[in-house]
Amino acid sequence: MSKNTQILLVERPTGMLQASHFQLREGEIPAPAEGQLLLRSVLLSLDAANRAWMQGATYRDAVNAGDVMAGGGIAQVVESRADGFAEGDLVFGEVGWQEYVAVDARHVARCSDHRPLTQQLSVLGIAGKTAYHGLVHLSGIEAGETLLVSAAAGSVGTIVGQIGKIRGAKVVGVAGGPEKCAWVVDELGFDACIDYKNDDVPAGLAKHCDGGIDVYFDNTGGACCGAVSMYDGGPITGPVGIPGLLVVKRIRMEGFIVMDFADRDDVAERDLAAWTASGELKVIEDVIDGLENAPEGLIGLLAGANRGKRMIRVSAEPS
Ligand SMILES: NC(=O)c1ccc[n+]([C@@H]2O[C@H](COP(=O)([O-])OP(=O)(O)OC[C@H]3O[C@@H](n4cnc5c(N)ncnc54)[C@H](OP(=O)(O)O)[C@@H]3O)[C@@H](O)[C@H]2O)c1
Repeated sequence: MSKNTQILLVERPTGMLQASHFQLREGEIPAPAEGQLLLRSVLLSLDAANRAWMQGATYRDAVNAGDVMAGGGIAQVVESRADGFAEGDLVFGEVGWQEYVAVDARHVARCSDHRPLTQQLSVLGIAGKTAYHGLVHLSGIEAGETLLVSAAAGSVGTIVGQIGKIRGAKVVGVAGGPEKCAWVVDELGFDACIDYKNDDVPAGLAKHCDGGIDVYFDNTGGACCGAVSMYDGGPITGPVGIPGLLVVKRIRMEGFIVMDFADRDDVAERDLAAWTASGELKVIEDVIDGLENAPEGLIGLLAGANRGKRMIRVSAEPS
């Protein structure tokens, strides 16, 4: 009987995440109980939020020392003890950083027929829906407005900026490093991108957003979508000048979780799939082979090594 390769979080990091916080072990393949499915992982999503879960409870429970590292992904049913599922079905759910997992069938969602399968984790997954709901449903950006987006080369940011262009906005990104910034403009069609590691950011904003900023889709500072700059040992800070600037500039600041808009997921999926098919939206994916590479993959993501949606291919994609 083959073993179940698993990656545990053995210590909750207080500073920056390191490979030593994880440990690989060969566990047993679980037996599914009544109502459960035994799944074999195919694609594991790596997300900035994985690091936030180690800090404490968020929209889900914290990941504690000794736990198999948590993570969502796409998996294939190996054995079904639940009505409505059969061996070979593909589902999305909480698979964790392991090859095999037994889960309650009511906690998984069936994958669609859309291919490539990777796009069900990227543009049609949490990243695409977060970008779509945040920009279209929450901000309501309109043609002619100016959109600023941080972590512009990341999985959410690449899609936010491109949707902004599709909606007729002027789009300015913020990203780390000159090559990334040039790529965001040349490859993704943003109007400009400010390199927060090397440029004078206020001067860049004054230059590229000279008419003001109508929507700031913030992935890094904690003002709207996420706070990746503070997940990995960075100082807990926030936007400065609050509440004075909110009053004077009539700013509305609102956080959201992608699930808040689940009732409109079908609209998001329809538009995202159509823009992808027409070529208006470029899907940027960063697929790493091998579960054992998940720790370095997440550490790298937090350090900006990724472009677009990073994921781990745990096993071969079923035909
Ligand atoms: N609200 C929701 O429902 C929801 C859902 C999904 C994701 N999110 C949030 O969306 C954000 C992006 O997540 P993701 O999974 O798509 O990751 P991602 O953007 O693909 O990767 C994270 C990026 O953040 C940038 N970064 C890292 N440390 C930074 C720092 N100190 N300052 C500025 N930028 C930094 C890096 O790019 P650079 O090279 O440019 O630094 C890195 O590539 C996260 O804040 C996440 O929590 C929210």
